[in-house]
Amino acid sequence: MRETGIIIAIDGPAGSGKSSVARLVAERLGIVNLNTGAAYRAVGLLALREGVDLGDGEALGLLAGRVRLEPGGVLVDGRRLEEGELRAPEVSAAASRVSAHPEVRRVLLPVQREAAERARRIGGAVVEGRDIGTVVLPGADLKVFLSASPEERARRRALQTGREDEVERIREAILERDRQDSERAVSPLRPAPDATVIDTTGMGLDEVVERVVHLARGARRDG
Ligand code: DC
Repeated sequence: MRETGIIIAIDGPAGSGKSSVARLVAERLGIVNLNTGAAYRAVGLLALREGVDLGDGEALGLLAGRVRLEPGGVLVDGRRLEEGELRAPEVSAAASRVSAHPEVRRVLLPVQREAAERARRIGGAVVEGRDIGTVVLPGADLKVFLSASPEERARRRALQTGREDEVERIREAILERDRQDSERAVSPLRPAPDATVIDTTGMGLDEVVERVVHLARGARRDG
């Protein structure tokens, strides 16, 4: 029997359904959900607010030092940021720029690991991001990599944001972001060798959640 909680890493590109799946799996298993993208978004938001150059890795690394990751949210200087502030389109774009700097990733690495370790002690966590299974928590008990065709991801994003008439434009933006994310030098987006890859194209959210919960129960028994 495992003495502490289970750690589940869920990685995948934008629009793969990661966030919804992670939240629902955490609810089903009664464990914490850690959204690591929120930490990168917090750095992006801080940079915009404080006028820090998105190309200045060193200055951005200092901003990252003020970020703390918590179950269901992120704190800056001890204050919780609102979901609405973090989801603004200009913050998404800034987060993507910020996340390419090794100085930022270096500072956020222990922030993410410590949050996961605290969660493990109280039952476990579903940790969601881009490089959780490969870099942040290579020892995770279960690693899942969610993918979906660019067409499907564009459709989901369009539905989410009420831009159904812009699917083609969104698809092109997604292809461009995929290319950037998987070709960047530090922590590129790719499945860990021991990850279970689930292609969610044509699958409903419930079905994906069910698959991951099933895998988690198996991982728990083995642990
Ligand atoms: O998952 P998200 O869209 O909230 O992530 C915001 C940005 O942060 C995204 O551009 C990719 C980056 N990110 C990352 O590089 N590594 C992670 N573990 C999580 C997010």
